[in-house]
Amino acid sequence: MSAQPLLTFVQDITRLLETRPAESVILAEGRKLVAALVSSDEWLPDAFARPHPGHYQQYLLYADPLDRLSIVSFVWGPGQKTPVHDHLVWGIVGGLRGEERETTFRKQPDGSYEASGSGVLKPGEVTAVSPTIGDVHEVANNFADRPSISIHVYGKNIGRVRRHVFDPATGAAKSFVSGYSNDVVPNLWH
Ligand code: FE2
Repeated sequence: MSAQPLLTFVQDITRLLETRPAESVILAEGRKLVAALVSSDEWLPDAFARPHPGHYQQYLLYADPLDRLSIVSFVWGPGQKTPVHDHLVWGIVGGLRGEERETTFRKQPDGSYEASGSGVLKPGEVTAVSPTIGDVHEVANNFADRPSISIHVYGKNIGRVRRHVFDPATGAAKSFVSGYSNDVVPNLWH
């Protein structure tokens, strides 16, 4: 198994971020890079493709030493989903295996959050979030009988970002830090 596609992605997106582009450029160019990364799936080691019976897994694949990005393998067990949450940084998501369902939410004048759209991400497809383009959503495995995997790229070390989960009915926010499922991050291009 070769980690070359991931290495190439890290090199390309690091070069992009080194130019300190506007967020619109990061999202436009970054989407192309993520699409290239998820155009094949044999590069993801099995250790970062394992679902957990109780909850979805977030395996850190790479964190930039200058905190400009992180790359996470999201592994959904059958029927698993996130609460409604925000990110506070840009994020680009590519489908790798199975299907991921996203429901976006918009804040209402009374403070509650109402679903504003939904879509299904299939292997090779890409979507994005950010405080500028819409940052609050709920994400789920679109399958009730098998795992799904997507690759998430964020504009910071997302596992350390203090952000929020929301009760959509009331808009009540709870602060959280997502962390990672793996204790050790290997060097994938040894
Ligand atoms: Fe998210």
